[in-house]
Amino acid sequence: MSRVKVLDAGGDALPMFQHQGQNYPNYAQTDSIVNIHKVPIRDDDIFICGFPKSGTHWVWEVSRMLLAGHQLDDAVEKGVGMMEYAPHDAIQAMSSPRLLNTHFKLSLLPPDIVKKRCKIVYLLRNPKDVAVSYYNFMLKLPYYTYRGKWENFMKYHVLGKFSYGSWFDFVLDWEEEKLKHPELPVLTLHYEDMKENNLRELRKLDRFLGTDRGEGFLSALCEHTSFTGMNQRKARTSSDHGAFPGLYRKGIVGDWKYWFSPEQNEWFDTYYRERMEGSDLNIRFSLS
Ligand code: A3P
Repeated sequence: MSRVKVLDAGGDALPMFQHQGQNYPNYAQTDSIVNIHKVPIRDDDIFICGFPKSGTHWVWEVSRMLLAGHQLDDAVEKGVGMMEYAPHDAIQAMSSPRLLNTHFKLSLLPPDIVKKRCKIVYLLRNPKDVAVSYYNFMLKLPYYTYRGKWENFMKYHVLGKFSYGSWFDFVLDWEEEKLKHPELPVLTLHYEDMKENNLRELRKLDRFLGTDRGEGFLSALCEHTSFTGMNQRKARTSSDHGAFPGLYRKGIVGDWKYWFSPEQNEWFDTYYRERMEGSDLNIRFSLS
């Protein structure tokens, strides 16, 4: 394990933490990355998992309010339950049911998650919007100090050179693990479906979590956790918001169309077809 500087195609550096051949964010404290597989798991732990920039903050906010049974307006951040970021003694001290989250592959997480059949909310977002979102996030985050250009970022990101590696490796690993463990309670949510009809997807989440909050509650929750609602609330309450302005950037489907050049798009589509051959995942790149 070591601190490394990964160069994009133009020679701009992204500082990262490397562990077992994989790059991760360059957090000041990296024990939680190294020891993630050792977190003691409880039967009623609930996990939100997905590749970075898939809407993790959004679904975490919605889930914690479903579990609480009322709208929350506090300064609590998703990081408190992020397994590779939060100190593990703080995760141990959380009261049950714990709402944890991670961008790790299931195969690298504590095996007790599978043994205890914990509930998992698994998030997917189309990889073109993920790339754009991740690029903008990296430009803004203080621990990356990155100044590179989009044209020097996209391909290297897609090929898995940066934090958390490749979206393709991640989603294909998750699909394989889900098939291997059909007994695992996993709810798969697509960012695009949530943008298309948030209430419909919230009903699924409500049923899956067993919270049974009723239509009035769910409709109000859609409003409270809409992109605008969440962005304004975080600006008001969160001490992190100033340091992480890239977290609530645009919140739309299809922003990639303004970023990918025709050549980049052609390269990406060919690569996508190659990597996803044989996969029956239905990923939507736009809503129309
Ligand atoms: P964009 O950069 O495309 O705007 P994560 O939480 O996994 O890091 O994902 C961040 C992405 O989710 C960002 O995408 C962010 O704007 C979007 N997002 C956050 N809250 C949202 C919300 N309430 N509704 C829609 N998108 C949201």
